[in-house]
Amino acid sequence: MRGLPFFLALLVLLKIQLIVGVWRYNNILEDENLFTLKNAVFLKYDGSDFVEWEYPESCNVNNKSSPNAIMKCTSPGFQMVKPLVSSPEEEETRYLFISDSFFSFIWYAVVPIDRGSTETSSKKVRMWIIDPEQADPAEINNTALVPSTQSRYITKHFYNNGQYPVITLTSKQTHLGHFQKDGYWEAVIPGDERYNDFHIYGQPISFQHRFVIEGQHTFYWPEPTEPNREREVSLRLAPGSPLLLVWGTCELYHGLLLSDTGALITKNAFLTSEELKVDPGSLPVPPEGYFTVDQAALLEDGIIFRIDGALYWRDNQDRVLTEHPQLPTSGVMGLYQRTCCASNYPVQDVELSSLIVWKDNVLLVGPKQLKNPGRANFLKIVLTVPPTVTFLTASFGSHPASLATLVMNSVPGAIPRSFLTSYNELVPSWITSTFMTKFKLKDIPKGPFEMRFLESADASLLLWNKETILYSFHNDNEWGEIRPFNASHLSAAANGSKIHQVALDNSWNMLVKMENNILFYCKVGMHEVVRLHKWIEPDSRMVLYLNQKEQIHMLTLTPEGLHVQKYPMLMETKSAMKGSYHDCPFISFEHSMNTISYNMDKGDQMVLWAQIVYPEGKGVHVKLLSNNEDLLNIEQKSHFEGVNSVDTVNTTFIISQKVDYSDATSYTHLTKKTSGILTLELVPNQIGNTCNLPKSRISHFNVGCPPNRHIRVARPWGMPCEMHSLTNYTILRSVLRDQQQDDLVVDYDWEKFGCLLKTHYKNPFHPSLDLYDGDNFVRNVDANFIVWDRFGRKDYSFNATMRQVACLREAQTWSFMLTGGKSLEEAWGPENYRTCFKVIPGKLGNLDQPYEIMNRSSKNFLTFSQVDSATYVFNVKILDPNYSFCDLHAVFAVQTYGITIPKHQHLTTYVAIVFTLFSLCILGYSYCQYVTIFRYLLATRKHKYE
Ligand SMILES: *[C@@H]1O[C@H](CO)[C@@H](O)[C@H](O)[C@H]1NC(C)=O
Ligand SMILES: *[C@@H]1O[C@H](CO)[C@@H](O)[C@H](O)[C@H]1NC(C)=O
Ligand SMILES: *[C@@H]1O[C@H](CO)[C@@H](O)[C@H](O)[C@H]1NC(C)=O
Ligand SMILES: *[C@@H]1O[C@H](CO)[C@@H](O)[C@H](O)[C@H]1NC(C)=O
Ligand SMILES: *[C@@H]1O[C@H](CO)[C@@H](O)[C@H](O)[C@H]1NC(C)=O
Repeated sequence: MRGLPFFLALLVLLKIQLIVGVWRYNNILEDENLFTLKNAVFLKYDGSDFVEWEYPESCNVNNKSSPNAIMKCTSPGFQMVKPLVSSPEEEETRYLFISDSFFSFIWYAVVPIDRGSTETSSKKVRMWIIDPEQADPAEINNTALVPSTQSRYITKHFYNNGQYPVITLTSKQTHLGHFQKDGYWEAVIPGDERYNDFHIYGQPISFQHRFVIEGQHTFYWPEPTEPNREREVSLRLAPGSPLLLVWGTCELYHGLLLSDTGALITKNAFLTSEELKVDPGSLPVPPEGYFTVDQAALLEDGIIFRIDGALYWRDNQDRVLTEHPQLPTSGVMGLYQRTCCASNYPVQDVELSSLIVWKDNVLLVGPKQLKNPGRANFLKIVLTVPPTVTFLTASFGSHPASLATLVMNSVPGAIPRSFLTSYNELVPSWITSTFMTKFKLKDIPKGPFEMRFLESADASLLLWNKETILYSFHNDNEWGEIRPFNASHLSAAANGSKIHQVALDNSWNMLVKMENNILFYCKVGMHEVVRLHKWIEPDSRMVLYLNQKEQIHMLTLTPEGLHVQKYPMLMETKSAMKGSYHDCPFISFEHSMNTISYNMDKGDQMVLWAQIVYPEGKGVHVKLLSNNEDLLNIEQKSHFEGVNSVDTVNTTFIISQKVDYSDATSYTHLTKKTSGILTLELVPNQIGNTCNLPKSRISHFNVGCPPNRHIRVARPWGMPCEMHSLTNYTILRSVLRDQQQDDLVVDYDWEKFGCLLKTHYKNPFHPSLDLYDGDNFVRNVDANFIVWDRFGRKDYSFNATMRQVACLREAQTWSFMLTGGKSLEEAWGPENYRTCFKVIPGKLGNLDQPYEIMNRSSKNFLTFSQVDSATYVFNVKILDPNYSFCDLHAVFAVQTYGITIPKHQHLTTYVAIVFTLFSLCILGYSYCQYVTIFRYLLATRKHKYE
């Protein structure tokens, strides 16, 4: 009885397999920008029942009865294309959007590898302009090192019209191209990286009314890999498993593709890949001759494999599979590697985890390298649960510092309940989310689950099993199940196939790939997915891969090897939604928040804007979402304009750090309370599946000391500064602040104190401070600051009195601040500074004392000892509590000259002079004697010969 349905199912399956045809299309460079009137579209039908192409009149096809035809259109817009087939089942119709864009030339870039050169710190990029329709095959497959005749001709014309390329690196650094006589531009870029990723921007210059498309280019410089050794064995997934793709957290181009026939590894985004094998070392090789892997994680220094509940380590260096003492050997149920690099998150002195491991009743996290000197254990326990609780899945959160786990509590006798709980690595604490409580128990799907959080200011996540996806956006404000039109869940709409992959890019696109290669698409934030046209045969072993350029690639594993092709996602989604009710509530949305992290020091202010254009009456506006919103002050202003029933709203956000730290009861506490990281997210209040959304959506604002911020003392113009002119100097005990028995000998540290500024002892001196971020000058420091001699000299003063600087009461002085017995470094600073320009009733004091606080604009100068030439090593510290979160201090040294020599030194000089005179006398005398004797000798000799 059970045989018949099985047989029928097999028949149906066979029938589908037989008649199923697939058609796809592309252009010569597989570039979505090139679906224009100027460029040909290649149509391709795979199947045995092809008859001919059906296409609109405004297009031409070179041979409509060829399954591989070339189409060119003469009018822009959606073009309905479809293959006619002999089988009763009709083929899918696509609406290809052909634009009349003026941009149809392309920047070609190549980095020739100079094997003879030992230069590794820089690389030369050659750039020229190609017409994709007329380019050489080598230019199409990216192997050309010099322009073809045609490209040289085009490039020369552009050059003569004033065109030149500018390379922009991911670090925002720019490099200009210089034209060479060989017909290309050349630019020098840093070459010490594993890969180079840059954009080429040209000038708005046309040739034959056509412009050049700005392009992104990526080059990889993988180290050559050694061939697999004889004793090395393969790694495979369990038979029948769908492909599994993992990639490096911060190195997207480093990927590992696992299948039930082997493992492939790449270090250049699958341009090339090799089989990954391991040396079994002392591990017994399973009888089948390979290891069966469940999961893997690509760390920077090796790979972790989960095999039968244990974690194994394969080092990048020795390639031996081992049971590492730092890794658990049993009970591991899951592994999750961070998918979005957290290195741009402005957290200082903390390394965020890259890996989550869950076993029995502990949840552990680990960093991106196993070999981590200075860290005792690779894995660290972050959660321990009672035996009744099991971990269902875990993942990193919407904020880089958070992670979350879905757990199930099965107390005997009660209905098991699952709940989501999340953890913050910076303020270690667990919070249980309301997410799972939103669903009725019967609506919660059964595991096994996978989970992925979206990068967002609020917690937003997707949770899926094999059949369906649940979502929760904006801290559980919106939740539900992602559904296809007309079906109860994804699996039902995909002929019962299971969810294989959920792929997300930065522009809010989400693709759900089913095991039978059916794709669903939606914008993140929408709860209805669109089924896309069939692109690949249902039985192909395929997985989606998103590269550095945010392009979706389809990796298909065939018996011949790995086949990589670009997937034109935007064209496909446009076509699938053509004529449907899917639309976008606005016409355009753009904003200026395009940097992943910003630094906000005290008093800083920045302005961002976001503009949205929409059809009148749609009620669209821009929302600014944030977490930790108390950290910054945000003011909004909107400018509205309505023209021809199109409304434009440009909203400006003035973001500032505004806290008054002066007179704070506890400065340190207040500083700590008001610093941290704030995440802002700019989104329209309504979106739709057809919207175009900007790539950047969130930015992190580091409210605190910007990295590498410091102050430097500028060397006054024309003042000499000596290096290495002494090794030590003596400070007389009479000029030291503290009573001492002996004079102090100071060893001068040239590294630390820098050069010695030489000044005449009568000249007052005014240090001028500059603020720097690393080696970048930020601005002159206009805050109040104090100076003190590092070794306790007190024979210097200030030439302005408190009265002269207009104090309203006695100002703070060193002698007053030091009464508590604190050290010079700690006695006085922003934490206890009180201004003298505020009246305190009844307290006036003596205003004729020197004012010991300096400022860029004040007339208060340092004056030096009038008794002795002296060497001072001054510490400088910013005093204004509202100036910066950083502890800003610097050192500078001054040596005075020009003073008449003190008495005890007179004596030595005198002795020296007397001694010299005496010596001279003796010398003179002996000379006289010598001359006399010589004359005498000469006379006698003369006498003899005569
Ligand atoms: C058109 O394509 C068909 C099928 O490939 C082929 O038989 C035929 O010769 C082609 N016609 C021309 C004119 O190339
Ligand atoms: C690229 O094109 C050149 C020149 O036509 C050819 O020799 C080379 O084999 C091609 N390489 C690839 C990878 O297709
Ligand atoms: C929005 O307004 C700001 C200033 O108010 C301006 O700098 C920006 O260019 C405007 N945006 C657009 C798209 O016009
Ligand atoms: C100071 O430097 C001089 C010259 O290098 C050296 O001879 C002397 O020993 C040093 N004095 C001390 C106390 O280190
Ligand atoms: C301190 O000396 C400087 C330089 O000679 C001078 O410009 C300034 O006016 C003096 N300040 C006062 C208060 O006299």
